[in-house]
Amino acid sequence: MISHCYIEDIGTHLGGEILLKGWLYNKRSKGKIHFLLVRDGTGIIQCVMSEGEVSEDVFNTYDKLTQESSLEVKGKVREDKRAPGGYELELSDIKIIQIAEDYPITPKSHGTAFLMDHRHLWLRSKRQHAILKIRNELVFAIRDFFYRNKFILVDAPILTGAIGETASTLFETQYYDEGKAYLAQTGQLYNEAACMAFGKIYCFGPTFRAEKSKTRRHLTEFWQVEAEMAYYEQEDNLELQEKLVEYIISWVLKKNKKELELLERDLSKLEKIIAPFPKILYDDAVKILKKEGGDIEWGSDLGGDDETILSNMYEKPVFVCNYPKKARAFYMKPHPEREDLVLCADLLAPEGYGEIIGGSQRNDDYDSLVQRIKEENLPLDAYEWFLDLRKYGSVPHSGFGLGVERTLAWICKLPHIRESIPFPRMLYRLYP
Ligand code: 4AD
Ligand code: MG
Repeated sequence: MISHCYIEDIGTHLGGEILLKGWLYNKRSKGKIHFLLVRDGTGIIQCVMSEGEVSEDVFNTYDKLTQESSLEVKGKVREDKRAPGGYELELSDIKIIQIAEDYPITPKSHGTAFLMDHRHLWLRSKRQHAILKIRNELVFAIRDFFYRNKFILVDAPILTGAIGETASTLFETQYYDEGKAYLAQTGQLYNEAACMAFGKIYCFGPTFRAEKSKTRRHLTEFWQVEAEMAYYEQEDNLELQEKLVEYIISWVLKKNKKELELLERDLSKLEKIIAPFPKILYDDAVKILKKEGGDIEWGSDLGGDDETILSNMYEKPVFVCNYPKKARAFYMKPHPEREDLVLCADLLAPEGYGEIIGGSQRNDDYDSLVQRIKEENLPLDAYEWFLDLRKYGSVPHSGFGLGVERTLAWICKLPHIRESIPFPRMLYRLYP
């Protein structure tokens, strides 16, 4: 019995007979020698068969095989220094599982709209494969970081009754007789409850924004990892964020060299991502942007172009700290000396990528939080439980949220966020 093996493990079978189960990636022939490129999800390997060395039946199977046909192949593993993975398979047998119809994604180049419409198939190509393998390690590294630092995973609900960030980007649905439910924009409010129970916690899941903006940075459904820590002030919060970002980058550099090289990523840029990161004040950011010819006015949030300018000025991610109160969500703690500011920071990734983390110290004072909820015209009763946290042992606390897709887009240096998630949801995209 020849046992099934995955291409990534093929080196352990050198000289032995193995069985691969996969799909035909590509094929070529020199007449008396046929070459099949077979992929199985873990890698691609070149399989070779020569006329006379296999049965005529097997040899002629070559002509029937189309791109992405599913097949099983048997053969002997041999070393080949020139082959991509360092190994080749000397074919002895082929079993066709299915002959694929004309595969729409051919080696010639296709437009983005076409590829996005075929996202369910596009995932099979080398570049998309590399990106999503990096995503896999990125998510693992995030969870590993929190585990090592003794954070407890406390996941937040996706259907919520209170607005988490801003009323302008809500997906809503009728929830039985209970009124409106919103898809979570953030898990933060629930995180605040959880950190009062467990100290240091995080949640990790999809979050939703009905963004009307069609930019290279916006999805309507994206994955966010959000941490919340009791007895953490702004400085503690920033220090934790630096450590997290340093950790995930070093992990990906260790685990995904092959994939990053396939994407032609300049590794030296990522190797520089070591804490501490530079910090600038929002006030100064506005001055810098004005000097650069930007049209930002003090008081408004930074736009995508503003972030691009700032993030191009540093080799490391940069924190922009203490934004105007009126540009930020209701839950942030007022600056102790400047009542027009809040204690918060955005972390902007370098190379023009812009914000990957948004975080803040939270308003832990009952009265001023009630006032902010009223100012924002939010329904007080929906926040009763949130306000309870300020009644029963309120303490200084802080937290942040990191967007997985924005971070991955930066790590892989993708021109657009849409390639950073298996099935992107955007203003004009719900298919496939
Ligand atoms: O800055 P945001 O809106 O912060 C929050 O939601 C806080 N409640 C987080 C917290 O403190 N617990 O979003 C956090 C991050 C952003 O920095 C960005 O990386 C990502 O989420 N993000 C998006 N990613 C893709 N598409 C969108 N439309 C995004 N909106 C935010
Ligand atoms: Mg933000």
